[in-house]
Amino acid sequence: MAQPVQTFILGVSGSIAAYKSPLVLRAIHKAGMDVHVVMSPSATEFVTPLVLANLSRHAVAVNMFDENVQRGGSWHIDLARAAHAMLIAPASAKTIASLAHGITDTPVSCVALALPESVPLFIAPAMDTEMWEHPVTQHNVNILRSRGVHVLWPVTGELASGSVGMGRMQEPDDIVASVLRTLRGSTRAATSDDPITEAAERTSSPLQDALDHDAWSAEFMLSVLKGSAPDARPLSGRTVLITAGPTRERIDDVRFLSNYSSGKMGFAMAEEAAAQGARVILVSGPVDLPTPANVERTDVESAEQMRDVVMRHASHYDVAILAAAVADFAPAKAVNGKIKKEDVGASPVIDLVRTPDVLASLGAVKKDGQFLVGFALESVNGLENGRKKLLAKNCDMVVVNSAASEQPAMGGDTNEIAILRRTSDSPISVPRSSKRDCARIILAAITAASSPTDITA
Ligand code: CTP
Repeated sequence: MAQPVQTFILGVSGSIAAYKSPLVLRAIHKAGMDVHVVMSPSATEFVTPLVLANLSRHAVAVNMFDENVQRGGSWHIDLARAAHAMLIAPASAKTIASLAHGITDTPVSCVALALPESVPLFIAPAMDTEMWEHPVTQHNVNILRSRGVHVLWPVTGELASGSVGMGRMQEPDDIVASVLRTLRGSTRAATSDDPITEAAERTSSPLQDALDHDAWSAEFMLSVLKGSAPDARPLSGRTVLITAGPTRERIDDVRFLSNYSSGKMGFAMAEEAAAQGARVILVSGPVDLPTPANVERTDVESAEQMRDVVMRHASHYDVAILAAAVADFAPAKAVNGKIKKEDVGASPVIDLVRTPDVLASLGAVKKDGQFLVGFALESVNGLENGRKKLLAKNCDMVVVNSAASEQPAMGGDTNEIAILRRTSDSPISVPRSSKRDCARIILAAITAASSPTDITA
């Protein structure tokens, strides 16, 4: 027999983790629930009501008196009575305080207070370590726990401030799995056709799988980082110059010096920038990748050739993203033909010289209004070395990736990056993601940083 759809309330309060709320919403929705979203006004700084309204297919309450949600003046009571459960994710320090003390200052705390006692309330706190560990917050959390509120404990990890510590919201799929497990546990005589049991089973697959195959994530990431409604073509009318891949420095006609770069990160940047409406000029070292649609590609081999082609575009790009892994050294003199072993003996020595620095050359002639992005591949002190490169090469942004991690940036399909901006001391840390998702986030950060309202989170 078909089971009735469960009504679920998702409260979103003002913490940077609010950018993950669409993922939470979608996981609950996928579990077969009808989700209604209530937001605190400050949450709208991190995710737009439009995104959540589209995903939930219901108007989102941000203001108690919002005409879109009125139903006879007591919509919050009606919603609370209809609910089977409510989750607040993220729950900010202020929202936790409001809940603990019955302060109905936002739709989130107001609806939570109106919940009948039998309706389970879950909170997923998210805040910086100091705020989380503050005795006031801990006291408030204990008040809520003593009233039967389920606390989905925050975890230790990277925080929006750039530090690492306790206070990071649990990942969306973990949150939803816990909620569903608890709901299932509280349902007497759960059977295989119990919708909550089924829902818990359905959400056990990682959300990442869904993300990897879902174009929606692009809009989501953009809306997250821009803090506004998704704009499919934010780079329309702009020229984006990109370098990608390794360079090869000739030793002789058959040998060269190079590195393991596959070009995948630069090509993902090019593909995404073109999809977002930019005119894209891609200067690529030797790679085995097809040219993305609507991208003007020039192939080069050496660092010197890459510098020459890039410098020809120096005066007319709007954004330049130099993702190439340019070889730093080249043989002082390339030999024509093939070097014979007997000619060089048992321990041959090759004299090396430094190659031109393409990024620094472009930085030296950067004009007002141009936005220059470098990459930094670091095995130690990534953020510190990345910032040094940002300043030394006159960049506006540097994307740091690790040469030391177990899954190194070069060659693979995923990357774990930190985005450093000239205008902010706080890096944007991006957990391991596909290179295409990294490209989307980098472009969103560029769009935000090169527009009048820079993001400072
Ligand atoms: N880069 C460049 N030309 C070079 C070397 C690097 O344009 N000859 C650019 C890269 O494309 C990247 C940035 O400079 O955007 C940093 O590259 P990276 O290899 O991390 O650092 P290097 O400057 O080469 O310094 P080091 O190898 O000492 O860390």
